[in-house]
Amino acid sequence: MAQLQFCLAAGLFLTASLAKLPTQAQTKEPHRPEIHFTPQKGWMNDPNGMVYHNGEYHLFFQHNPDTTIWGPMHWGHAISSDLVNWKEQPIALFPDALGTIYSGSAVIDKYNTAGFGANAMVAIYTNHAIEKEGFNTFETQGIAYSTDNGKTWTKYKNNPVLPNPGIRDFRDPKVCWHEAGKKWIMTLATSDHITFYSSPDLKSWTEESKFGKNTGAHGGVWECPDLISFTIDNKEIWVLIVNLNPGGPNGGSATQYFVGAFDGSVFTPFDTKIRWLDYGPDEYAGITWSNTGNRKLFIGWMSNWQYATRVPTQNWRSATTIARELTVVKKDDAYLVASLPIKELDDAATKPFTVSKIKAGRYSLTDKAGKLNGAARLELSLNTTASFNITLSNNLNEQLVIGYDHSKNEYYIDRTQSGKIAFVEGFAGRYTAPRFAKDTHIPVTLVIDRASVELFADGGLTTMTTIFFPNEDYSHINIATTKRNIQKVSLYGLKAR
Ligand code: FRU
Repeated sequence: MAQLQFCLAAGLFLTASLAKLPTQAQTKEPHRPEIHFTPQKGWMNDPNGMVYHNGEYHLFFQHNPDTTIWGPMHWGHAISSDLVNWKEQPIALFPDALGTIYSGSAVIDKYNTAGFGANAMVAIYTNHAIEKEGFNTFETQGIAYSTDNGKTWTKYKNNPVLPNPGIRDFRDPKVCWHEAGKKWIMTLATSDHITFYSSPDLKSWTEESKFGKNTGAHGGVWECPDLISFTIDNKEIWVLIVNLNPGGPNGGSATQYFVGAFDGSVFTPFDTKIRWLDYGPDEYAGITWSNTGNRKLFIGWMSNWQYATRVPTQNWRSATTIARELTVVKKDDAYLVASLPIKELDDAATKPFTVSKIKAGRYSLTDKAGKLNGAARLELSLNTTASFNITLSNNLNEQLVIGYDHSKNEYYIDRTQSGKIAFVEGFAGRYTAPRFAKDTHIPVTLVIDRASVELFADGGLTTMTTIFFPNEDYSHINIATTKRNIQKVSLYGLKAR
């Protein structure tokens, strides 16, 4: 059992026992996270084809297995029973005569509509024909199926199932079963808007409608969409997720969403306000798992196209975010999407260290060895009457600051002094996000994992993800705020199995 000390500025020391904080073999590599998925080697970008089947969560991903830079895309594969502990599998989909394998989704074909077998796992993806890049028709949609829980895959012989009508950026199909219409719906990113298609069998697709040419953020190309439904007060509410690159709220790639109605053919937003699922610079291409019933489980790629190919890791590049559960919350007249870490993350937590008597001032949290030692989760409850900041730092005086600015009513993350920042221009920055909640206290969850922090404030109404690369892992957390502002502090080590 490691000891964790909570040291008050006034000189008081509180000590609590914590189960030994994690040290995985993989943590020997600089910046390799403890509880976030990373490929053993090679390049990774978007999460793809996430589907739940026979007790396993499947995570496929854009993968270039041979180098740590983006290149010919494959679908890598990992499985997990709890969305926290991932086991990498052999590559699922390799480039073929129709092109490399870009992003897409997977479904369980319960009714055997495609004829590949009842409950076949069917992947729907984009083929990107590199040699035809000069032409607008180089992206088409294809399907492949697996009848052995995603272990082996057969490409459908009559691919492409959706040829290109002449649109340059024509990709990232997300397919769901529309129960009321008894048909499949494909949500496809088509340049600067979404096109919805329907199909009885996953093989023949008919255009239903278009959405978004003049709605939402348009600072870049639309990519990786998703369409999910929630039932609220007996009403069906639909959320359309649209990833965008560039044009995010803090620069580069980011995830926006729209809330509205979908009648099986047309998506109608309730309003045209621009909203972001994550305001940090480092969540992109996020979409949800299929076949999870009413639970909507989301995961994103934890990087930004502005610098993803340059980040200072060796052997592998990029991690996913923590898996998150999405809910829709009514705030005043609008429906907002909130995201929180999945409850399964609780099982990865070591015994929490909770501070019961909190005084004003500046706090410091470290374990006996002065280390956070990998991954940790910090839960705080604060009043809204003052600003606060939480600083993660190391002995080299490198630091990352996460805070709330009371005068502006906004959250921020500042990585300008976070360690390695010069590997690409513009990596050092301070990022802000609005506060939507109006309650008089702020619940804050931070998920910290060696080279990343995910902030979930106000029950996930404001979320920010940021990566960083300290020259030595951060070992201290300091919470600074004014008198009597903190109501509760708990720190958990997070441990992968
Ligand atoms: C988004 C994206 C997708 C595409 C994939 C290629 O990050 O550009 O639109 O399918 O990456 O790797």
